Amino acid sequence: MRLDKFVAKSTELTKIEAAELIRSGEVMVNGEVALIESTQVHEDNQITLNDQVLTARAFRYILMHKPAGTICSNIDEAYPSLFNYIDIDRVSELHIAGRLDADTTGLVLITDNGRWSFNITRPTQHCEKVYRVSLSKCIADDVVAKFEQGVMLHGEQQLTLPARLQIITANEVLLTITEGRYHQVKRMFFAVGNRVASLHREKIGKVQLDVEEGQWRYLSNEEVQSFMK
Ligand code: URA
Repeated sequence: MRLDKFVAKSTELTKIEAAELIRSGEVMVNGEVALIESTQVHEDNQITLNDQVLTARAFRYILMHKPAGTICSNIDEAYPSLFNYIDIDRVSELHIAGRLDADTTGLVLITDNGRWSFNITRPTQHCEKVYRVSLSKCIADDVVAKFEQGVMLHGEQQLTLPARLQIITANEVLLTITEGRYHQVKRMFFAVGNRVASLHREKIGKVQLDVEEGQWRYLSNEEVQSFMK
């Protein structure tokens, strides 16, 4: 992790304040003054501020059931941020591992560990996300094969990665994808002549949504580990 982030995570300082202290020479890494805030540090480095050894707080991992009409942003914009529902310290240090649109509901994972969220969001990590989709038109039989082969989204140059489509009823399906392109699910159905009426994320990797709308809980250790590589 970056040195300024480490200092902020082990004190009450913001990252900006931590960077100022680093540049003024008050922070040492393994006994040497470190003046560059972007220096990478690891658990086995000894970091001191004014001769006090710093210990970073543990990372936090949260599961939330996002209500419709909230946004996956740290600040309120046209809609309120879903962080309004999470009444804990230092919410501004948290970020969302895979955003949902304002009108999408369901499972959101939240953390302050960037490396962990990378394992969820990068397509190269093949982390499956399962969406329950209500469609405005009946689903055509050939869509299962089309999604398995990949479809071309409007304005893009690469087919979507193979996706699994399970038909529940004529207008309701479960879709499993491993990517998170912009409005991906809505655009995939648009590419096959249909339209998403409502969208809900049920599962990410092995983690299943199990709290009511607007509620959240910390992930279990086992759930956290399931995304570690
Ligand atoms: N795909 C979408 O189109 N919207 C979402 O919110 C998530 C995936």
